[in-house]
Amino acid sequence: MPSEHPLRMGVLGAFTTALYASCALAATDDFDMLKYVDPLIGTANGGHVFAGATLPFGMAKAVADTSGENQAGFAYDTKVVTGFSHMHDSGTGGSPSMGNFPIFPQPNCPGDDIRQCKWQQADRAVAWNRESPEARPGYFGISLANGVYAEMTTTNRSALYRFKFNNTSSQPLSPVILVDLMDLPQSRRNGTAHVDRSTGRLSGSGTFSPSFGIGSYNSYFCVDFKGAELRDTGSWSSNGVNFSKPSLSLGANSSSTVSAGTFARFRSPKDDTILARVGVSFISADQACSNAEREQPEFDFEGTVSAAEAAWRKKLGVISIDAQGVSSELQEVFWSGAYRSLISPQDYTGENPLWKSDEPYYDSYYCIWDSFRSIHPLLTLVDPLSQSLMMRSLIDIYRHEGYLPDCRMSLCKGFTQGGSNADVLVADAYLKKVEGIDWDTAYQAVVKDAEVEPANWDVEGRGGLHSWKHLGYIPFQDIDPYGRGTHTRSISRTVEYAYNDFCIAEMAKGMGHHADYEKYTMRAGNWIHVFKHDQKSSIKGVDTGFTGFLQPRYPNGTWAYQDPIFCSPLLNFTSCYLNPDGHETYEGSAWMYTFYAPHDMGSLIKTLGGAESFTSRLRYLHDSGLLYIGDEQAFLPVYQYHYAGRPGLSAYQSHSYIPSQFNATVAGIAGNDDSGAMGSFVVLSMMGLWPVPGQDVYLITPPYFKEVSIRNPVTNKVATIRNVNFDPSYKSIYIQSAKWNDKPWTNNWLTHDFFAEGGVLELELGPKESDWGTHIEDLPPSISKYE
Ligand SMILES: *[C@@H]1O[C@H](CO)[C@@H](O)[C@H](O)[C@H]1NC(C)=O
Ligand SMILES: *[C@@H]1O[C@H](CO)[C@@H](O)[C@H](O)[C@H]1NC(C)=O
Ligand SMILES: *[C@@H]1O[C@H](CO)[C@@H](O)[C@H](O)[C@H]1NC(C)=O
Ligand SMILES: *[C@@H]1O[C@H](CO)[C@@H](O)[C@H](O)[C@H]1NC(C)=O
Ligand SMILES: *[C@@H]1O[C@H](CO)[C@@H](O)[C@H](O)[C@H]1NC(C)=O
Ligand SMILES: *[C@@H]1O[C@H](CO)[C@@H](O)[C@H](O)[C@H]1NC(C)=O
Ligand SMILES: *[C@@H]1O[C@H](CO)[C@@H](O)[C@H](O)[C@H]1NC(C)=O
Ligand SMILES: *[C@@H]1O[C@H](CO)[C@@H](O)[C@H](O)[C@H]1NC(C)=O
Ligand SMILES: *[C@@H]1O[C@H](CO)[C@@H](O)[C@H](O)[C@H]1NC(C)=O
Repeated sequence: MPSEHPLRMGVLGAFTTALYASCALAATDDFDMLKYVDPLIGTANGGHVFAGATLPFGMAKAVADTSGENQAGFAYDTKVVTGFSHMHDSGTGGSPSMGNFPIFPQPNCPGDDIRQCKWQQADRAVAWNRESPEARPGYFGISLANGVYAEMTTTNRSALYRFKFNNTSSQPLSPVILVDLMDLPQSRRNGTAHVDRSTGRLSGSGTFSPSFGIGSYNSYFCVDFKGAELRDTGSWSSNGVNFSKPSLSLGANSSSTVSAGTFARFRSPKDDTILARVGVSFISADQACSNAEREQPEFDFEGTVSAAEAAWRKKLGVISIDAQGVSSELQEVFWSGAYRSLISPQDYTGENPLWKSDEPYYDSYYCIWDSFRSIHPLLTLVDPLSQSLMMRSLIDIYRHEGYLPDCRMSLCKGFTQGGSNADVLVADAYLKKVEGIDWDTAYQAVVKDAEVEPANWDVEGRGGLHSWKHLGYIPFQDIDPYGRGTHTRSISRTVEYAYNDFCIAEMAKGMGHHADYEKYTMRAGNWIHVFKHDQKSSIKGVDTGFTGFLQPRYPNGTWAYQDPIFCSPLLNFTSCYLNPDGHETYEGSAWMYTFYAPHDMGSLIKTLGGAESFTSRLRYLHDSGLLYIGDEQAFLPVYQYHYAGRPGLSAYQSHSYIPSQFNATVAGIAGNDDSGAMGSFVVLSMMGLWPVPGQDVYLITPPYFKEVSIRNPVTNKVATIRNVNFDPSYKSIYIQSAKWNDKPWTNNWLTHDFFAEGGVLELELGPKESDWGTHIEDLPPSISKYE
């Protein structure tokens, strides 16, 4: 097996210089990982990361909303702030999410004339000071050109804003704070607002559309103030300001892009500061008020920040690293990635108006197509209790809506991108023995995905099930009278459905459903039906040298054609989205999807010409520019060398992307973070155990630290992965030998027992590949044998 140095020099050099040798911070008692969390990472360049204040999985997420690519409210590559709003999603594509009912402060109105204040969103937009944004867990602050310094923090269901006004004008301060019945995607269908003349309380409601789904949702707010004497109140709309009208109702007759709302005006505050507390709810304005009163009785800003920091330290404190020799930048990439993995899904328990249930209700599974690959496998390790609550919530969604979602946000069904990948999540939790789950109902739910086509398979389940069962693939131009959906992605849906069926087979096996086990194992082999053995591929007229790629196929078995590199970064990169003309692979090329048979790697490697040929093809995928690491299907191919007996190349490949594509700058994520998918990718990669989602398999590579430990917060068992001969310049990244609890370990993978029972995995490193983990008996499981 391989012993020659596998790296092409020049490629490696570019990735590793300048990244070591700075900081020598070992884990000590006064270590505070929060210093290494920078929520501004990924707020530029389309990362769409939520930069504001939130608790882990909190419903309230407060931040400044900017004009521009504002999917999560604030983006660094913008210039103006239009308001401060209280609920967001993080890292998502699609339209901007939520951002309902922004409030906006002004120090006074010119000439003390209320009509001279700014009201409509475009008029009031104010520049933010480039140097000012300060973001840390539980806190966000920013200063505006109108003399307002705005800070914010949150509890689970309320936001607390502290507005400090600079007395720069020649007239006394008399701050005005308005609320706008607006949301970020400007999707409002109707809304109401009311101001209490005696207290200045602003409350109201609105009906809005989800950012990547169907239907609508109702949302409610309640704003109370502290710190200044109330001067007067009123409502405002495009018709102007009205002091004598405390209520406002907007119907279908008002355009969703037009701002309107209520306001409160104050006399000059002592300390120049006003606190605004905003309760949020999906049930009623009363519940929005009581959420805020319960969680935030004292308007205690510093206390709320401290409580949020404590919650974050507790969540992140289950991980410890020995960072000796590792740059502070890489530590920031690691801790910030872990932080971003714990922002969503959001806990809306008690806030679900759709059905009554004693089960938890989480929302913003945005989207499972993204999150099943890294977010949930990481949560299973660091927060198994939340993972259990999320799984229960998914199963309760199945109970009440008939299907598991593939994507869900704002109480609405989101769009399905590929397979029914909640099946993978459920199997993953089952195999890793996540506790407290009704497995019989969970099994019913995944079998329904596999057997019963929904009326609208754009938002749940699978399409083309008749063809799937009878032809064994999803045909190009399928004829499907059984349900309605977007007839694209026949290649990527085929390989995803095959893997989904494998995951069901694993559960069937464990639960003793023998006939199902055989049936779904058979269907798991369907990926081969869209593999065209003689298909060639060239780039700009030059043959890539590899033969055999996935291709679209008509219902009658005849092959259709899609250039194998189509929708890679090298050809029509953006032509495979979720549009009616979105083509046969989703957000990636047939070249890439050809590698997607995570359960059947023995057969895939044989099909692609054996281990050596597979390895050079995988190298080509990464080196040629065909793969885009900013989309989640690219994660597994980083580690698939393991299956060809080249675990060292997986380690090499991981270092080729981290930190060059994942760094601590505001533009430091290659694509949308997708609720923390990119964040969890770096964390798992840097911990050195890549979970193959939906299987009890972790592929072993060396951690990026001398040592990493995870303490299971339920059992307190500690699993430690330790490098011997650790080299922070990352030249020695090749495992020479391994020991699991002092016994030699030759498999290049291990199982969840390692985390469940605790223990030590010790990896001895060297500068060259060794024969560790390279033999057929060392390879991860596959339903078909390796040859
Ligand atoms: C407030 O005024 C001071 C002094 O003029 C200035 O340094 C500071 O940046 C101002 N702050 C804001 C939020 O405008
Ligand atoms: C916030 O909600 C979580 C559950 O999602 C709960 O564990 C936590 O205690 C709550 N935090 C506060 C401060 O109430
Ligand atoms: C702000 O400045 C004006 C004019 O200088 C003054 O009248 C007013 O009292 C000041 N307000 C505060 C709160 O200092
Ligand atoms: C707003 O529209 C929704 C959905 O059409 C409806 O259920 C709700 O009653 C409406 N609210 C108001 C205040 O008109
Ligand atoms: C203000 O509202 C009151 C009460 O709804 C209404 O009678 C009055 O005409 C309004 N004034 C203006 C200027 O719109
Ligand atoms: C617009 O609709 C709202 C709510 O249905 C209603 O109260 C209001 O009178 C309507 N305004 C106009 C100008 O029709
Ligand atoms: C299969 O169907 C396609 C598309 O309708 C057609 O072009 C092709 O000729 C058919 N092949 C055979 C063998 O009938
Ligand atoms: C591929 O991209 C080119 C140029 O960007 C465009 O003109 C063409 O229509 C695209 N082709 C397809 C099939 O989407
Ligand atoms: C940081 O990551 C971004 C996104 O992947 C990349 O474009 C950029 O080149 C990286 N910057 C550095 C200094 O490595």
